[in-house]
Amino acid sequence: LTDTYTFSNGEKIPVVGFGTWQTPDGDVAESSVIEAIKAGYRHIDTAAAYGNEESVGRGIAKSGVARDELFVTTKLWNKVTTYDEAVAAIDESIAKLGLDYLDLYIIHWPNPAPIRETIGFEKRNADVWRAMEEAVEAGKIKSIGVSNFHPYHLDALLKTAKIKPVINQIYVNPSDQQEELVAYNKAHDILTEAYSPLGTGNVLDLPTLVEIAAKHGKSSAQVALKWSLQKGYLPLPKSVTPARIVQNADLFDFELSADEITAIDGLHGAAKLANNPDEVGF
Ligand code: A2P
Repeated sequence: LTDTYTFSNGEKIPVVGFGTWQTPDGDVAESSVIEAIKAGYRHIDTAAAYGNEESVGRGIAKSGVARDELFVTTKLWNKVTTYDEAVAAIDESIAKLGLDYLDLYIIHWPNPAPIRETIGFEKRNADVWRAMEEAVEAGKIKSIGVSNFHPYHLDALLKTAKIKPVINQIYVNPSDQQEELVAYNKAHDILTEAYSPLGTGNVLDLPTLVEIAAKHGKSSAQVALKWSLQKGYLPLPKSVTPARIVQNADLFDFELSADEITAIDGLHGAAKLANNPDEVGF
C-alpha cells in the first residue's frame, strides 16, 4: 500500500485508496478510517457531498499517522458553480477535515443540474478550476483533477486550464469498463481512478472472478481490485467491515496472468449493476 503512481505534475499517490462514499457520517466514518489506516491504507477519498468530511478528518487525526504520510482527497460539489463559491468550498472542506492542505481536490461532476440549463458546463468548470489553480498556488492543494468527466468535458476544460488535471475519477469495474474514457485519460497523461471498483459489490459473484480467485487462494473482490491495478487504474474500494477493509488492501502477493486479465476484460456487461452514474444522466 506504499506503492505509488506518479502524476503528470510529479506528485505521488498511493495505488489503492480507501473509499468513503455511502459511509455514514459519525462514528462509522471515523472508526472505518482509523481501521483503514491501521490496515495500511495511506490514501483516503472523501467528498463534500458524502457529508462525512468532519468524521473522516477525526479518523485521520486519531490514526496517529503523520499528515505527510497520508494522501487525502475531497471533491467540489454540484451546487458550487462560481469562482467565489469554489474559493469558499475549498476552505470549508479543508476546515471540516481539520487539515492544513489537501493532497487532491477534484470537481465531482462535470455538468450537474444547477448549471445544465443556465451557465453551461464550460463556464462553470473553467471558473471553479481557476479557483482550484489559485489554491494550488497558495499551497492549499497539491494536485487538482476531475471526476465523471467525459472526453468532451475534458476537451473544454483543457482550453482554459493553466494546470492540467492529473486524475479523472470514474466508475470503472470489470462489468463497466469505460474503454473510450480510459483511452482518453491515458492519451492525456491523466490517471484513471476507479470508484466502485467492485461495482458496489455486484461483480463479486461473476463465475469468472470466482474461478480465478479460487486458483490464487484470494477472494473475487481481491481479483477485481488486482485487475484494476494491473490495468493501471487506481481502485478505491469502499467497505465499513474491518475484515474486508484488510482484505481489500492485501493485493500484493499475487499476480494475474495475461490470460486471466483477458478473461476479465471479457466481462464487460456481465453483471447487473446498480447506480451506474452514466445512467443518471450527468
Ligand atoms: P461493506 O461496506 O458493508 O463491507 P464498491 O467499492 O465497488 O463501491 O463496493 C462496495 C460494496 O462492496 C459495499 O457494499 C461493501 O460492503 C462491499 N464489499 C467491499 N469489500 C468487499 C469484500 N472484500 N468482499 C465482499 N464485499 C465487499
